Amino acid sequence: MQGADGTTTEGAGHEDALQPERTADGSWTLQSTRFGQAYHSRHGALTESMHVFIGAGFMHRATGPDHPGTLRVLELGLGTGLNALLTLRTWREMQASRRPDIEYTALEPHPVPLSTLAALDPAGDASVRPEDAAAIHARQGEPRHDVDWGPGGRFTRWAMDWQTFAGRDHQAFDLIYFDAFSPDSQPELWTEARFAEAFRLLAPRGVLVTYCAKGNVRRAMEAQGFSVEKLPGPPGKREMLRATRPVPEEVLPKRFNVRVYFLLIAGASDATLAQGAAGLDPEDKVLVSDEVIAGRNCTKWPGGGLEFGEGPRECALREAREELGQDIVLGPLVHATGAFVRSAWRPEEQVLCHYYLARLDEPPGFPITEVPFSADAPVAQTFRWVRIKDFDGSALTFATDREAWATVRGPR
Ligand SMILES: C[S@@+](CC[C@H](N)C(=O)[O-])C[C@H]1O[C@@H](n2cnc3c(N)ncnc32)[C@H](O)[C@@H]1O
Repeated sequence: MQGADGTTTEGAGHEDALQPERTADGSWTLQSTRFGQAYHSRHGALTESMHVFIGAGFMHRATGPDHPGTLRVLELGLGTGLNALLTLRTWREMQASRRPDIEYTALEPHPVPLSTLAALDPAGDASVRPEDAAAIHARQGEPRHDVDWGPGGRFTRWAMDWQTFAGRDHQAFDLIYFDAFSPDSQPELWTEARFAEAFRLLAPRGVLVTYCAKGNVRRAMEAQGFSVEKLPGPPGKREMLRATRPVPEEVLPKRFNVRVYFLLIAGASDATLAQGAAGLDPEDKVLVSDEVIAGRNCTKWPGGGLEFGEGPRECALREAREELGQDIVLGPLVHATGAFVRSAWRPEEQVLCHYYLARLDEPPGFPITEVPFSADAPVAQTFRWVRIKDFDGSALTFATDREAWATVRGPR
């Protein structure tokens, strides 16, 4: 229902009072009481959308080097549909032979009621046909709504918030229009957790654009591995942000990550350890660690990261106490990473690993499993004894561990 003042409270569970307003460039926005903010910049809704989302986002990703054959766009907050309709227009205006296909996904948990939209002119503002605006806003109340944008183009609207969408299985996107209300109004959408989700939702070289340029927002993005550019902002804003999910191989390493591991040999003596790898009996057993790291099943040697003020040997002893819950006797260093290795988790880190032989002084007090990652062993880390002559190094998840095993075992 639209009131005398143009506000409305009707729609799919919408309890907002939305006030249409003209912005400085003549295009429309809405003032929201629920969020205490306008949907767009008062300095010009159209100008802002064209600058931030179309110019720095769509044109950058659709025409830049390595642009994808199908451009998958995800919008946080369809709102009046201005960004979506401008994207449609810009995409249609591209030379057919050079434009990618487009799949546009828009999230909107609080759809703007049709009666409110009728008081605005999103189609006119975006210079598209009224039917184009009607199509993206049709079937309000449906959880999912699809629109055919013609050959190579598809629009999907989900009546769903970002947090729910990001928690599901998903395709990889090339471009995210991060158009939430500002951090003052929606602090929960500008956190490291949200940008970790955005990072996961993007393909390598994928880009997130937003009008916001706050330092803590930029730092939250960088903490998730984004490369962030500060670009000139639209009228009324000095800067905006464009965050790119880098291709791991192209990231310049910035830090060393020193790791220390031990190959714990069952029943070894000091004398056999002292001979290094050459002293190992192929019938002996060595301990492998099966760990779930960041949701991924990893088989590796026990050990972990060197801390500041710690020597590599001290690190191995500490890691043994932490992981096995008991002391080990450390033998010689048998391998150290020789080649350049990038962290499997953080591409800006260069990994250097040390491997020691070790033995136990006391019988093992830690639980041993036979089958890795089984339902019987639902803990994050379990241990297995494997016979040296039978153990296939390809079972190890990390290249550095495989290299160490090849050195220790020697030629078959
Ligand atoms: C600044 S407005 C975006 C304007 C819109 N892009 C447009 O072109 O009109 C923010 C939008 O995000 C929506 N929103 C709020 N919370 C959200 C959430 N958790 N997930 C997704 N969208 C959300 C709001 O309903 C609103 O439509």
